[in-house]
Amino acid sequence: MNLLALENLQVSIGPVQAVRDVSLSLAPGECRALVGESGCGKSVTAMSLLNLMPSAAKTNAVRWEFAGRDMRQLSERDWRRMRGNDIAMIFQNPMTALDPTQTIGSQIAEPLRIHKGLSKREARMRAIALLERLAIANPAQRAGQYPFEFSGGMLQRAMIAMAVVCEPQLLIADEPTTALDVTVQAEVLSILRELRESSGTAMLFITHDLGVVAEIADSVSVMYAGQTVESGSLREVFNTEAHPYTQALKRAVPNMTHPQALQAIAGTPPDLRHPPTGCGFAARCSERMAICEALPANFSCKAGSDHQARCWLWHPEHPARWREAEQ
Ligand SMILES: Nc1ncnc2c1ncn2[C@@H]1O[C@H](COP(=O)(O)OP(=O)(O)O)[C@@H](O)[C@H]1O
Ligand code: SF4
Ligand SMILES: [Mg+2]
Repeated sequence: MNLLALENLQVSIGPVQAVRDVSLSLAPGECRALVGESGCGKSVTAMSLLNLMPSAAKTNAVRWEFAGRDMRQLSERDWRRMRGNDIAMIFQNPMTALDPTQTIGSQIAEPLRIHKGLSKREARMRAIALLERLAIANPAQRAGQYPFEFSGGMLQRAMIAMAVVCEPQLLIADEPTTALDVTVQAEVLSILRELRESSGTAMLFITHDLGVVAEIADSVSVMYAGQTVESGSLREVFNTEAHPYTQALKRAVPNMTHPQALQAIAGTPPDLRHPPTGCGFAARCSERMAICEALPANFSCKAGSDHQARCWLWHPEHPARWREAEQ
């Protein structure tokens, strides 16, 4: 059974249709990467999964289940019990997530006191043990320090500690390595991999870095203009990418072993205040057909054994038909 089943999530913030149709599933222990260009709705999806969007945002989903519960029915009280306990999040920028006035140790210990009812002393001991596990030297002394006394890489580890201290079933990591230099990035990835292996936590790993995806994910969902446009196993999405957007994204990544010029994707994503009726990628797609702009690609077609794409090219009726109709 899936731990998370999300179908057709839609989030609008005023006139902006930030998320137009996102469907995702996660099995227990699975790591799914959510990738896509900046502004495509990754963070809004993540924040919505924790019910952390501002009240002005309107959220809807056809199905949204987590550990067998219908998340659309949760009260704010239920959410407070669940957040940081069953579902936790690592944010891109630790400085916005950590409280500058509290010591690192008390911030890591706090979820244990709230959710697990541990005493102050017990919670502190656990926080120190976790800092040690995350390779922070002198953890007992470090636990008594404030965020400003930590380096960027150490702050990121402290935030990971805060997120995983209650051993959540689902960890959402929103670009957790983007702001870090390459060495620290590798270290954070290896910490997350190890935590996943030891505790069986499922992960939704948000990134725009396809190199990171290959290192950490089992499966991949690609987002474009507020929609999931392709999803499947890491192998299928990486080796036989089906959607023209994913193909363009892959061409845009310089290959580490065979360096080549980075090919930027021509054009810009659609304005999400007035999203197009047809396929959101049509304006930039070299495979575009007349049907692509006329009809919304609001379906998911099979593109392999564990692989779906939202694209008319993969529609069960052969695309040659659409091409013929144009002539
Ligand atoms: N609080 C907000 N108020 C208004 N618009 C927002 C807000 N947060 C995000 N958006 C808009 O929603 C869209 C998706 O943003 P986001 O999810 O942050 O993208 P990503 O994380 O993929 O870079 C963007 O057009 C962004 O401008
Ligand atoms: S639906 Fe058409 S325009 Fe959209 S990605 Fe597929 S081929 Fe390109
Ligand atoms: Mg983001």
